[in-house]
Amino acid sequence: MSTVLVESTLSDDERRARLFAGDIFVYAPKPSTLAFVEFTRELVRDGFRGLDPETAQYDLQVEDYAALLAELKPRFIHHPRCKELIRDLLVEHGADPERTYFDVPRLRTSTSDDYLTSGIAYAFHPHRDTWYSAPFCQLNWWMPVFDIVPENGLAFHPKYFDGPVRNNSDTYNYYEWNATNRGSAAKHVRSDTRVQPKPQEEIELFPQTRIAAPPGGMMIFSAQQLHSSVPNSTGRTRFSIDFRTVHHDDVVSHRGAPNVDSECAGTTMRDYLRATDLTTLPEELCLEYDDVPPKADALLVFGEAALGARAPLGTA
Ligand SMILES: [Fe+2]
Repeated sequence: MSTVLVESTLSDDERRARLFAGDIFVYAPKPSTLAFVEFTRELVRDGFRGLDPETAQYDLQVEDYAALLAELKPRFIHHPRCKELIRDLLVEHGADPERTYFDVPRLRTSTSDDYLTSGIAYAFHPHRDTWYSAPFCQLNWWMPVFDIVPENGLAFHPKYFDGPVRNNSDTYNYYEWNATNRGSAAKHVRSDTRVQPKPQEEIELFPQTRIAAPPGGMMIFSAQQLHSSVPNSTGRTRFSIDFRTVHHDDVVSHRGAPNVDSECAGTTMRDYLRATDLTTLPEELCLEYDDVPPKADALLVFGEAALGARAPLGTA
């Protein structure tokens, strides 16, 4: 069973324990998240050059739209202000910035009516982030930038949380993905040929859990949750922000959600930066999670080429 806890007053330690057991947390907008939303809206509006970002898909050829996102998304991901905003947001949500590490934030777009669902605006099939080399202690943080409705958000399939789904995550090697697909997402406009971990059995998509929070309302869930993009038919493009965290003590003690079906290779553990000083986790800790040796040229540095190599790693 999965419980959605709204505006919980649990401590971060208690919250992580429940997240690892399949619960989902939702928080009302806070000053820190609203600041992040406002900052993002400015970047987005600037990127769309006077068009309404939520309806610009009706004014642009899809190739031009993809090119615009290919410029906008890296600007967001690399912007130094994002790191400060995430730190503030973590603190306001009760996380210890000395022990909490985060990776690059992604700006997601889900266009309406299958206008653009590949590459730079990939529409996510049901997946777990743990099929993409995320550690089992990883938590995903997700919030809308503009108003959303249940028909253009994110769907959870919680019945699969602690049971296996037949999948091909054994074909995924994080370091090979980085080396091969780095920065290529923008090229996949009308189709997406990148091989990604997917279910290899029919998924019962319903009943499913959808959570629609206002802009700046934060949702936190385990990387183990099976989740997907809701096919958007609302006539408006959904914009959302997400990023991932791990807690130092969970990494040390190998605490996290259960691995019921993931067989991918490599680890994203080197991607997280401590909220206080942006240092990475010690290499000896990362090695404990490494089942294949990374090649030097297949490791990412913070914010690098998040367009292609990292796009599928986050959240729908
Ligand atoms: Fe995801």
